[in-house]
Amino acid sequence: MATLWHNLQVVGQPKVNAIITDGPTIRWLGAIDDARDYQQRHDLAHAWVTPGLIDCHTHLVFGAQRAHEFDLRLQGQSYAQIAQAGGGIAATVQATREATHESLYQSAKARLLQLITDGVTTVEIKSGYGLDAPSERKMLQVIRQLAQDLPVTIRATALLAHALPAEFKDEPERYIDWVCQILPVLHADQLIDAVDAFCEHIAFTPAQVARVFDCAKQLHLPVKLHAEQLSLQGGGALAARYQALSADHLEYLDEAGVAAMAKAGTVAVLLPGAYYLLRETKAPPIELLRHYQVPMAIASDCNPGTSPSLSLRLMMNMACTLFRLTPAEALAGVTEHGARALGMSATTGRLAPGFAADMVAWQIDDPAELCYWLGGQLPHQRVYQGVCDAA
Ligand code: NIG
Ligand code: FE
Repeated sequence: MATLWHNLQVVGQPKVNAIITDGPTIRWLGAIDDARDYQQRHDLAHAWVTPGLIDCHTHLVFGAQRAHEFDLRLQGQSYAQIAQAGGGIAATVQATREATHESLYQSAKARLLQLITDGVTTVEIKSGYGLDAPSERKMLQVIRQLAQDLPVTIRATALLAHALPAEFKDEPERYIDWVCQILPVLHADQLIDAVDAFCEHIAFTPAQVARVFDCAKQLHLPVKLHAEQLSLQGGGALAARYQALSADHLEYLDEAGVAAMAKAGTVAVLLPGAYYLLRETKAPPIELLRHYQVPMAIASDCNPGTSPSLSLRLMMNMACTLFRLTPAEALAGVTEHGARALGMSATTGRLAPGFAADMVAWQIDDPAELCYWLGGQLPHQRVYQGVCDAA
């Protein structure tokens, strides 16, 4: 059934004050006087309508919070020191292995609902806190179940090369061998949409990541990379070499990496929550990314260690205040460019005919308010696949 949404405004399209959706798809945008062939009308009370928000980088399925590490860092310990002492990702791996499917599902669902309530209609969720076959499978199955149960589109990313599990201590190459054996199995069970890795001095080398990417390519799976977060490793250029959908974090990215990403069409995913929580002082090279026209996305990086963030709009604020993005760039970062970072730019992230009818109608005076308010809820109505959330 076709629905006319009217009495609305769209950023950058001053002549549009009405949208027609047909089932889960946008059919038409234009001036209300030209609207034809619809069965029901929905008055949006002069709202500003944006595409549904896209959170293209999260780790929101995990076993337990790590608030005590927050405390340790305030006392002066670094993220790398805590990781090397057995905390960090390894601590979450242990908790995630011990958790049941049901408890992982329930805690992740509560977090995901908070993102949804903030206007998110598409989210990427990574595995990577299991690091053995049953636990990675458990995480990925939880992700698939969330997608079935909740009104949100979910992409599942396998992040097996996240940290070296204790069983493989001092044997990273043997661990990568194992990762390359297990990826085809998980893929055959239709549990993964993309492959990610953590390229860092406390994680995996570019050569090890390249082995994982070779394996992903054989499976025709797109790749993404946690790159240049704590140091310059050449991860941006490596991601570009594999035509990665995105390279994420990027605080230490250099000009050669930016140029390579521009050439490959790899999106730069900015994660200001992790930058903020780790009290980093070196920001990603925003001017270079602009200069080379690398599309910039913004994501929550929702995870228990470095970014316990449940508001993508707060991340938009931080991208503006900490990284100096404009509100328009921030909006593109959680819509069009977020979609591109997930390989979904042909179907979602824009208000245009043929695109997903995922939209948010915000009751605000100025679109910059999406970035301006610090947290809290903005009055809005979320439309997912053409259906408005129950009030
Ligand atoms: O994106 N950089 C690695 N992965 C996560 C942190 C995971 C953790 O500390 O639990 C990130 O920041
Ligand atoms: Fe991450």
